[in-house]
Amino acid sequence: MLSVLARAASRLGVGVPSHLVRPVVGLQLSIRSTAHQEGLPKLPVPPLKQTCERYLAMLEPLVTEEELEHTRALVAEFLRCGGVGERLQRGLERRARKTENWLSEWWMQSAYLDSRMPVAVYTSPGVVLPQMHFQDRQGQMRFAAKLIAGVLDFKQMIDNETLPVEYLGGKPLCMDQYYQVLTSCRIPGPKKDTMVNYGTGKMPSTHITVVHNFQFFVLDVYNSDGTPLTVDQIYMQLEKIWNSSLQTNKEPIGILTSNHRNTWGKAYNNLIKDKTNKESVRAIQKSIFLVCLDAPMPRVSEDIYYSKVAAQMLHGGGSRWNSGNRWFDKTLQFIVGEDGSCGLTYEHAPAEGPPIVFLVDHVVEYMKRTEMVRAPMIPLPMPQKLRFNITPEIKKDIEKAKQNLNIMVHDLDVRVLNFSHYGRKCLKSFKTSPDAFIQMALQLAYYRMYKMCCPTYESASLRMFKLGRTEAIRTTSTESVKFVQAMDDQSKQNSEKMALLENAVKAHRTYTHTAIHGQAIDRHLLGLKMQGIEDLTSLPEIFMDTSYAVAMHFNLFTSQVGSKTDCVMCIGPMVPDGYGVCYNPMDDHINFAVTAFNSCEDTNATKLSRCLEDALLDMNSLLEQTAKPAE
Ligand code: COA
Repeated sequence: MLSVLARAASRLGVGVPSHLVRPVVGLQLSIRSTAHQEGLPKLPVPPLKQTCERYLAMLEPLVTEEELEHTRALVAEFLRCGGVGERLQRGLERRARKTENWLSEWWMQSAYLDSRMPVAVYTSPGVVLPQMHFQDRQGQMRFAAKLIAGVLDFKQMIDNETLPVEYLGGKPLCMDQYYQVLTSCRIPGPKKDTMVNYGTGKMPSTHITVVHNFQFFVLDVYNSDGTPLTVDQIYMQLEKIWNSSLQTNKEPIGILTSNHRNTWGKAYNNLIKDKTNKESVRAIQKSIFLVCLDAPMPRVSEDIYYSKVAAQMLHGGGSRWNSGNRWFDKTLQFIVGEDGSCGLTYEHAPAEGPPIVFLVDHVVEYMKRTEMVRAPMIPLPMPQKLRFNITPEIKKDIEKAKQNLNIMVHDLDVRVLNFSHYGRKCLKSFKTSPDAFIQMALQLAYYRMYKMCCPTYESASLRMFKLGRTEAIRTTSTESVKFVQAMDDQSKQNSEKMALLENAVKAHRTYTHTAIHGQAIDRHLLGLKMQGIEDLTSLPEIFMDTSYAVAMHFNLFTSQVGSKTDCVMCIGPMVPDGYGVCYNPMDDHINFAVTAFNSCEDTNATKLSRCLEDALLDMNSLLEQTAKPAE
């Protein structure tokens, strides 16, 4: 069990000091209701003056001196004794005293449920797993059956509250997100969405949803005595589903869930007017998770295979391919393609990437050790096929959703880069932080492409705090700018470049520390803004300032999601002229997924990933050339 904990912590990039690896972790430690969860500190409200000073420092490399001067004046006014800043800060502190986490509800609303963009591509990440080489359809079914059994095995740890507590920097993390990812679903609304979780009631769900050829099935995954079905049993049930969904001319009802949320919200209300449709939708929403048995993707050359799979995970490939084989509102959807393309997509509102990949790591380990167990001879009932009555109006909604989705599919530019020259181990041997080094390589790649730096977001975990989610690490700093400018400057010596790289890495580590300890600026600024909205006061001018708009326009939206499994997460860009970059630093290589929009002439995912590869190679040469001889 200790090794599980150490692995979990090492995935999060922290060594667990031996005195913190407490033997209580394991057997019956309740991770939710007991001392662990209750003992977590509350998310602090940082001091107002500190945030304002850090805000101005963050702006320095991003805005002009004139803009900065203007912002300084606005900040001074905001901070004025007895002014609006003080009032909002007091409101926030009051809220912090009264709630478990002053931010979590606002964050869920503002970052996810209020957003009207489609969840596919815009907020739901995809995870690309290594390609499987199925010999036949049975191979695909066997893989899917084992995968389902693996997720149920993980669920058991959640249900029994025996999941080992994760640690970051020696501190225990909030485990609440693990309770939100199974048996939950997002419900569209015409103005805003809601989340439902069916995992906690008196009658917890006992079924999953399986979708094949756009047809949805309820698959009960527990026997009447409460034991989970064996891999053999699941396999036989999947076979039945496959055989009764061979027709390929079905309406791709699931494609409705890929639409803009207002449009889907309206279509949803129309769809569930019909009793049968309502029951079918409820069955999907209530299911523990979804498994998509996908048709093969179009064949592509080996060098872009994983890029295609990443796109497949993000949006399903379009209405002619697998996009109708999804229910994008569902929190967890595992995807098993006939051609061996595998992975998952998840709806982001209830959880971040790390708990999802921790689950994936568990499932992958489970699948390695599980052999088919002979099923008991008791025949199981046929999984129930979910029926939909398609009225002309629903048909019209589906056609519109298809059109919108296909536009989105054509617009998304995805490139997976398997950087094979070195990984975490090598960077650690050079006594540098792999995460900060990779972030600097991204800064250099972007600078080489655009001859300028841009606002950059990296996700940092706030799970040291109760119900904590994420904070932004602002990678672009005065130090990072000096480094990228120097790197290609012929007049500079390597030793000077190296010193600038070290400074930039150090600045990044400092920001990371600030962020994970709840003292960074982005969530605090959001809180002050939300407090203003709640108080119905007019929005303070600092939020209507050009500098604020510039700072919030993240051309580089990045996230490290490390795992034991050789996989990579992918996310869409945050802004129309930006990039989404996810990476998984493994011991000896690094997996990257870069996305951009084709509709933006200035961005190009392939080009950025090439520049990134060059930057990583050049920076490694710099490390090697300036390495101090071993003493
Ligand atoms: N010399 C030697 N080793 C070093 C080092 C140095 N100077 N600096 C760091 N390392 C080691 C660390 O000890 C760690 O070792 P381990 O693998 O044995 O545990 C390893 O390098 C990784 O550290 P680093 O690369 O610095 O990153 P990190 O683990 O601190 O991660 C974040 C940084 C920001 C990614 C992490 O704190 C975090 O918040 N993760 C969650 C992000 C998230 O939620 N993303 C999902 C959004 S959907």
